[in-house]
Amino acid sequence: MAWEAVGAADAVPDGEMVTFARSEGDVLVCRMGDAFFALEDRCPHANGPLSMGNFSPPFLVCPWHAWEFDCRNGQCVHADDAAVRQYPVEIRDGEICVEFPDA
Ligand code: FES
Repeated sequence: MAWEAVGAADAVPDGEMVTFARSEGDVLVCRMGDAFFALEDRCPHANGPLSMGNFSPPFLVCPWHAWEFDCRNGQCVHADDAAVRQYPVEIRDGEICVEFPDA
C-alpha cells in the first residue's frame, strides 16, 4: 500500500466529482463538504466509466445501465454483492492523498 497525492482538494468543488489521471488507472474523487471519497473509475457491472455518469450526493449513477452507488462506501444500492472499489483518502496541505494497493 502506498499513499499518492493525486491533485489539489480545491480542484473538486463541493457536491461534485473529478477524475484524476494515473498511469495505473484513473481515480474518481467525490466531495461532500469537507469529506472526500476516492473510488476506482470503473463500474463493477460491466466496467462503465463512472466519471461519465451523474453525481447526486451521495449517489453516483453509472452512465451505461444506471446502477447507483453510494460514494461513501462504494456500495451498489441495487445489489448487495456489487461495490465500486474505494480507497482511503486524506487531505494533506491541500492535496488529496489516496492510499492505493500495491500493483
Ligand atoms: S456498466 Fe455500470 S451499470 Fe452497467
